[in-house]
Amino acid sequence: MPIIAPTLGRRLPGELIFAAPRRFTALPRHGNCLSVERFRCLHTSPPLYRAPVEPPRPVRTNETRTKQRYSPRHTGSAAVSLIASAGLLSLFAGLFEPDTAPRDAPSNAPPDDRDPDLPRFRLSDVRKHDAKSDRPWVTYEDKVYDITDWIPAHPGGDVILRAAGGSIDAYWDIFSIHKSPHVYEILDQYLIGFVDSADLVDGRPLPEQIEDPFRDDPPRDPRLITMTEKPRNAETPLEELTASFITPTDLFYVRNHMWVPKVDDPDQHTLTVELLDGSTKEYTLNDLKTKFKPAKVTAALQCSGNRRKDMTTHAHKKTNGLQWNVGAISNAVWEGVRLADVLADAGFPLEQARAGDTEARHVQFAGEESYAASIPIGPALDPRGDVLLVYAMNGRPLPPDHGFPLRALVPGHVAARSVKWLNRVVVSEEESQSQWQQKDYKLFGPNVTDPDWSKAPAIQEMPITSAITAVKLGDWAPLPPETKEQNMSTQPNGNAEKTDRRSDTQVARSNSAGSAATPRGRRASVAGYAYSGGGRAIIRVDVSLDNGKTWDQAELIDDCAVQGPNQESPCSGHKSWAWQRWRYEGVIPLPDEPRGSRADARPDETKKGLEKEDQDHEDGKRCQTLLVKATDEAYNAQPEGYDAIWNARGNLANAWHRVRVCSECESKKE
Ligand code: MTE
Repeated sequence: MPIIAPTLGRRLPGELIFAAPRRFTALPRHGNCLSVERFRCLHTSPPLYRAPVEPPRPVRTNETRTKQRYSPRHTGSAAVSLIASAGLLSLFAGLFEPDTAPRDAPSNAPPDDRDPDLPRFRLSDVRKHDAKSDRPWVTYEDKVYDITDWIPAHPGGDVILRAAGGSIDAYWDIFSIHKSPHVYEILDQYLIGFVDSADLVDGRPLPEQIEDPFRDDPPRDPRLITMTEKPRNAETPLEELTASFITPTDLFYVRNHMWVPKVDDPDQHTLTVELLDGSTKEYTLNDLKTKFKPAKVTAALQCSGNRRKDMTTHAHKKTNGLQWNVGAISNAVWEGVRLADVLADAGFPLEQARAGDTEARHVQFAGEESYAASIPIGPALDPRGDVLLVYAMNGRPLPPDHGFPLRALVPGHVAARSVKWLNRVVVSEEESQSQWQQKDYKLFGPNVTDPDWSKAPAIQEMPITSAITAVKLGDWAPLPPETKEQNMSTQPNGNAEKTDRRSDTQVARSNSAGSAATPRGRRASVAGYAYSGGGRAIIRVDVSLDNGKTWDQAELIDDCAVQGPNQESPCSGHKSWAWQRWRYEGVIPLPDEPRGSRADARPDETKKGLEKEDQDHEDGKRCQTLLVKATDEAYNAQPEGYDAIWNARGNLANAWHRVRVCSECESKKE
C-alpha cells in the first residue's frame, strides 16, 4: 500500500490535497487522479513543501549588466591626498601598488567620476591583502578598505578576515545587520581607494571575481527539501521523516546560518575552554577522545522554526523566517564527551557549582564561523542533563553540515543551542551576546509586531509538539451514519453521554465489516512524531480522523525497546530526549456528496464562516481533516490553534497538527 505524504501547508484556491511523493510521480495519471493499487483515485499536486523563502539579495549577472567599462580617470601613485581616513591612509601609502597599466576601455564607457584623489586598485592587488597579510583589505561594492585596525573592534570578531583579500558584499548579504548607516560610517573610516575601473562592469566587480563564502560547503543528499542553498537550510523529506526511529544521517535536517567551515586537519582542531577567572585550557579532538569517558545520547534536534509554515497558514498572518514544514526535526544517536567532565578538567569546581556555590550562570558556545549561543549553567552541569561535546553521529564522525569535527549537543533544548563547529566554551556570568541568543529565538505576545528583544528570555527547553507525517489510504469502508447516535444515551440530567468507550472511528471500523451500508470512508494508516523538550516523555498521542468531532489514541511505538538478547536499547541518555513515533489505523469518514450545510458541523460553524479546511467538499472532492495532538509526562498539551500563539518570528509553532485529506472517487467493492 502506498504511503502518501500529506501536504501540510498553505492551500490556495484550486490547490490539491496531497503532495505527490516523489516515487509516485511516474505512475500513470487519469485526469486529475493518480491510480495506485487499490487507491482508486487520489488527487495529487506538485509537492508543496518548497515554501517560498526570502531570496538572498540577487547578485547581478553578466546578462543583467550593461557590459560597459569605466575608463580610468585616475591611476594615481601612492602620493595621494586623503579625506575620510586621512591619518590611516598615509600610514599605508607605501604599501600601495596601484595598477597603472593601460587598459582597453571601450570608448563609450561611462566616466569614472569617483573621488579622483583616492587611488584605484586592481582586484589582483586586493587579493594580496588576504587574511595572512599584515594589512588585510576588503572591498565593498567598488570601494577598497584596509580593515587592519577594525578587526580588533569588529563585534563579530575576526570572522571578517574570511573576506580579507576579497569582497565583503556576500558576507553582508548574510549578516544583513551590517547594512545600516552606522556600519557604513564605521567602514568609511577605513576607505583607502576604489576598485580600478578595469575590474568593474556597471560599476561593480563581476560576480565571478567575488569569492563565494559557501565555496567549501559539502555536497548534499538531493532528497533533502531545500529551503535555501546558501546558507544551506533543508528539511528531511516527509516520506522519510518517521520511516525510521533514527534519521539517516544524510537526511537529517540542516540549519546553517552561514557557510560550512573548512576543516583541513581535524586533528588540529582545538577547543578552548575559558572559566570565570579568565583562565583557559585547550583540547585537541584527540584529547577529548582519549582523556574523557565517551558518552552516548539518543536525541532529537528541532529547530525553533519547525512548523512555522503551519503557523503562517493557520494564523493567516505572515511570520518572518524560513517557512519550514514539519521536517525541521530529526533524531540521531550522538557520541562525544560530557561537557561537565571537560569543564571539571579545565579547573571548574564542578561539585561546588552543582551544590549552587558558583557565580557562573551560563555556558557559552562559539562556532568556527562566528555563530554563538549559550545555555544556563543548570542543565550544563546536571549529571542527568546529558549535555555533550559531540564528535560522532549515528556511529560515524559528524558530517560537515552537522558540525564536523565538534559540536555541542544540548538535548531537550531548542537546537539553536547545539552549536556546530564548536571551538570555544566559556563559563560566564552572562549569556552569549550573539544575535542568536539576544534576538531571533524569543517569543512575544500575538499583538507584538515590533518586539523589544531585551524583554523576553531566550528559548531554551522546547515545548510539546506533534505532527502527522504519513497517511496511508486503503480501501473504502462503510461508515454507518447512525454510528454516533447508536453510541449515545441520554442521561438523567439530559446530557448526551457516550456509553461505548471506543471512539466513533473504531466503532465504525468494526461495524463496517458486516455492514451493507454505503461506503463513506477510507481505511487509513496514519503515522507521525511527537516530541517534548526538557526530556519529558510523551505519554499520549490523540488522533482525530473527523476534524475533532471524535478522538482516539494512537499507538506509541516502542522504539526504545531492547531488540534482542545482548542488544542495547537504541535509546541512550538519562531522559526522554528522542522523539516518539506513533501510528494509528482507522476509517476516515468522507461525505457522500456536496451538501449545502453540514448536519454534523460544530454548533458555532456556518458554511459561510468555515475555513476551507473545515469544509467537507472542495472542488467536488470529498474532504476530511485529520488532527493530532500530544501530551507529555508533565501533562503539557498543545494549543488548539495558532491565533493565540502567533508571534512575528513564527517560533515554536506547536498547535494541533491538521492535515487535509480528499478523495473524489466512487468506491468500488474490493
Ligand atoms: N551552529 C553553528 N555554528 N552555526 C549555525 O548556523 N545553527 C543552529 C544550531 N547550531 C547553527 C549552529 C540552529 S538554528 C539549529 S536548528 C541547529 O544547529 C541545526 O543543527 P543541524 O543542522 O545539525 O540539524
